[in-house]
Amino acid sequence: MAVAPGRRGPAALAWAALFLTAALAVDRGNFKTCEQSGFCRRQRSLKPGSSPYRALLESLQLGPDSATLQLINEENKVPLLLELWGLRGNMTRIRIDELKPLRPRFRVPDVLVAEPPAEQLAVTGRDEGSVELALGAGGHRLLVTAKPFRLDLLRGRELLCSVNARGLLLFEHLRPRRRPFSDKVSSSVGSLWDKIKSLFHRETPAEPPAAAAEDEEEERQGAAEAGGEGAKAAGAPADGSMQPEAAAPAAEGEAAEEPGAWEETFKTHTDSKPHGPASVGLDFSLPGFEHVYGIPEHAESLRLRTTEAGDPYRLYNLDVFQYELYNPMALYGSVPLLLAHSARRTLGLFWLNAAETWVDIGSNTAGKGGGETPQTDVRWMSESGIIDAFLLLGPTPGAVAAQYASLTGTQALPPLFALGYHQSRWNYNDEEDVAAVERGFDEHDIPCDVIWLDIEHADGKRYFTWDPSKFPQPRAMLQRLAAKKRKMVSIVDPHIKVDSGYRVHNEIRSRGFYVKTKDGSDYEGWCWPGSAGYPDFTDPAMRAWWAGMFAYEQYEGSAENLFTWNDMNEPSVFSGPEVTMQKDAVHHGGWEHRDLHNLYGFYVQMATAQGQVQRSGGRERPFVLSRAFFAGSQRYGAVWTGDNAAEWEHLKISIAMCLSMGLAGLSFCGADVGGFFKNPDAELLVRWYQAGAYQPFFRAHAHLDTVRREPWLFGEENTALIRAAVRQRYALLPFWYTAFYRSHRHGQPVMRPLWMEFPDDVATFAIDDQYMIDRALLVHPVTEQGARGVQVYLPGEGEVWYDVASRQKHHAPQTLYVPVTMSSVPVYQRGGTVVPRQERARRSAECMRGDPFTLYVALSPQGTAEGDLFLDDGRTFDFQTHNRFLHRRFTFASGALTARAADPSGAFDTPAWLERVVILGAGKPAAVVLQPAAGPETRLDFQHDAETSVLTLRKPGVLMADDWSILLR
Ligand SMILES: *[C@@H]1O[C@H](CO)[C@@H](O)[C@H](O)[C@H]1NC(C)=O
Repeated sequence: MAVAPGRRGPAALAWAALFLTAALAVDRGNFKTCEQSGFCRRQRSLKPGSSPYRALLESLQLGPDSATLQLINEENKVPLLLELWGLRGNMTRIRIDELKPLRPRFRVPDVLVAEPPAEQLAVTGRDEGSVELALGAGGHRLLVTAKPFRLDLLRGRELLCSVNARGLLLFEHLRPRRRPFSDKVSSSVGSLWDKIKSLFHRETPAEPPAAAAEDEEEERQGAAEAGGEGAKAAGAPADGSMQPEAAAPAAEGEAAEEPGAWEETFKTHTDSKPHGPASVGLDFSLPGFEHVYGIPEHAESLRLRTTEAGDPYRLYNLDVFQYELYNPMALYGSVPLLLAHSARRTLGLFWLNAAETWVDIGSNTAGKGGGETPQTDVRWMSESGIIDAFLLLGPTPGAVAAQYASLTGTQALPPLFALGYHQSRWNYNDEEDVAAVERGFDEHDIPCDVIWLDIEHADGKRYFTWDPSKFPQPRAMLQRLAAKKRKMVSIVDPHIKVDSGYRVHNEIRSRGFYVKTKDGSDYEGWCWPGSAGYPDFTDPAMRAWWAGMFAYEQYEGSAENLFTWNDMNEPSVFSGPEVTMQKDAVHHGGWEHRDLHNLYGFYVQMATAQGQVQRSGGRERPFVLSRAFFAGSQRYGAVWTGDNAAEWEHLKISIAMCLSMGLAGLSFCGADVGGFFKNPDAELLVRWYQAGAYQPFFRAHAHLDTVRREPWLFGEENTALIRAAVRQRYALLPFWYTAFYRSHRHGQPVMRPLWMEFPDDVATFAIDDQYMIDRALLVHPVTEQGARGVQVYLPGEGEVWYDVASRQKHHAPQTLYVPVTMSSVPVYQRGGTVVPRQERARRSAECMRGDPFTLYVALSPQGTAEGDLFLDDGRTFDFQTHNRFLHRRFTFASGALTARAADPSGAFDTPAWLERVVILGAGKPAAVVLQPAAGPETRLDFQHDAETSVLTLRKPGVLMADDWSILLR
């Protein structure tokens, strides 16, 4: 849950404001605009067209797998080092750092799964103004133009992407702090170039002395003092809420070079910026592309908009109270991956930087007549670190997904239960409440796998403890759940109550594991428990210690069926700037929080997942839900869209938000069903259950102040509708689980935009009210109040789709008007696919283990279909470590359905058998014959519905593990 609105200021004020519920929208003033973020303002004030950078072609060196080249800023003579790689699998990596930085600049660790394998580069062309390199086997070439510096990535004669074509490379070199100048405030804004020059200004010679830290710093300091012109303070920013630097108390009489360069103030918070300006920015031009996606998390449509008229999209993990929709403001998580798609190709840009980042998107066609070749321009701006950019060259959407997965890893395979339904609320009050809620599911025959406990379960918000009066017997409670094959999730947030009577705090403090202030003391901020410390999750020793806390003997009252929710891990700091940690706080290795802010939540989830794995001796798969995330978080569990609201627009945008996260690798995404803030009416709640049942992570959750909304509290009719929706989810669990397995293996998103499956159908490019689950199901949830019907677009030239409810066949492409009632959830199975289901209603996913299967075979116009099924124990790593799994493939062709191993390396004992086959789009056969792997042929009973062309085969009775064929004669 989020901090309430509130003016920044005394912590107590923010705390008091938690109890105000009047404000119904985000207080934008709590969060910076680009203009209020010093580096964003500086970067953005650089306009296209006159890059001062020149590539020193004579410095080109080819290493065994990379090329290096120096770039020189001709205004200030600061040299940069450009490194280029042609990575295996159609990727190019571009890294730019200072050749001799004053001190090392932050490079993002732990996000790449490995150093990506590179291919040998070769020089294939050269003249005085350019060099051309061949980038390995993909046939891609890189043209380096010296002046102004520019990179063009080509395949054949096609230009795929240009780097710095607009000349927006801006690399603020590290510099010593200057002495004040007598006239430090110039009266008016100087020429643009004066401003820009001042950013680069340095008095050192073109070839700086070898970087020998302090000596050199002194040398430069001296040079800077001797220097004359240099810094020019631009006029005070237009926005009154920013204090002009001249008015800010300048430390030791030192002056800033530019407002915000060495110190900046936002509301009541001053960022000391001891290392000065260090931002990096670069532009990428994408000819031929009009549609770009990704860079979650924003409450935004799937297709990104151009940002020229307003703020860029911001990536800075923040706890935003009651976020606004269709807005570029930052939210809880960040993945700096942008995708561009056209009917011809898909590209990805991965900007590996964990500092505050803004992304500007420009287009030459937006709002214009056309005629021109479309082009999208993307500009990345980050506050510190280096430029480390990966161009993922596709050419297909699936190839880009695989390329990104090869860099940052794939979705962890969730335990099966985690794909079931989760019941959460802030808060379930006590053990009796938990028992009553759980009983409610059984009384109303609604499946449920997990009951969640929010912050009130702990003793005074001391995580890893239980409130002694409300939860006196946690183990007994967990055992009662386990007896019903259900689980529990308890919240463990990263803010640790400062309390000398709290063991967790004492241990973290005595081991020196807290994040430090710039002065070296333990950093403290205000959060749920009051004054709190923030463990330094960037420290591997801290993470190891934290992981150890999940051992059963450490986390008292825990058990095998207790899993974890990491909330507030942006981190949320009620008393901090923009409700988060001060950027000058200091982490392990001396890095500033500024450098790695967007990684904090990633590490919290990593350490927690590690703890769960460890407590089982490495055998059981973890389940951890995280609110904050970064690139690579998919390796550690699930994410959700944070504190949404019980509004129809929030229901609608949950689809776009999860699609964006899926494109960025985070397949296990969901939104709070019902909406976190405010109270949904019955119609909205039912529609949300119906939509949530078809999203990867399916959890109902609600704010402390909302009225109770367990599924049976809205009258019998609505209970029945919710029951039906949840049961639809459970019937499809084998399909979801198989989709997650393939996502885990190959990196394709489970919930995906239509254009991933129909990449050349332009009509799909902006659709985000419907989507695909894997490649087989198209879902168009009803997200309009009072809807009587929805318009469903069925894509695919020459394809057919089957309405899952009516089994009616539709030809594509077409837009279908589908009348809906309250029980309708428009879902279509694509012709040519096989979907496995388990159709017996049970209490929980675990109760379904061993249940028989039904295969839904939807025939293509050619009379073919294909699908698969993954089965294992649903909870351990044995599928990986001992090949204990079944991966079966079902193929229908020439009137025969056959079952074979999709992956013969696996074996798994299961009594599960095939109880039914439903073939959609089939004629009536004379006879149906089963050929088991061993034993005689048998005839199968069948029923054919001539009106719908549905053929139902009863009781084939074969084991899911066996090979067999069913022949229609
Ligand atoms: C690399 O790109 C080429 C040409 O675009 C394509 O044919 C090939 O399949 C791609 N390889 C991978 C691994 O994506």
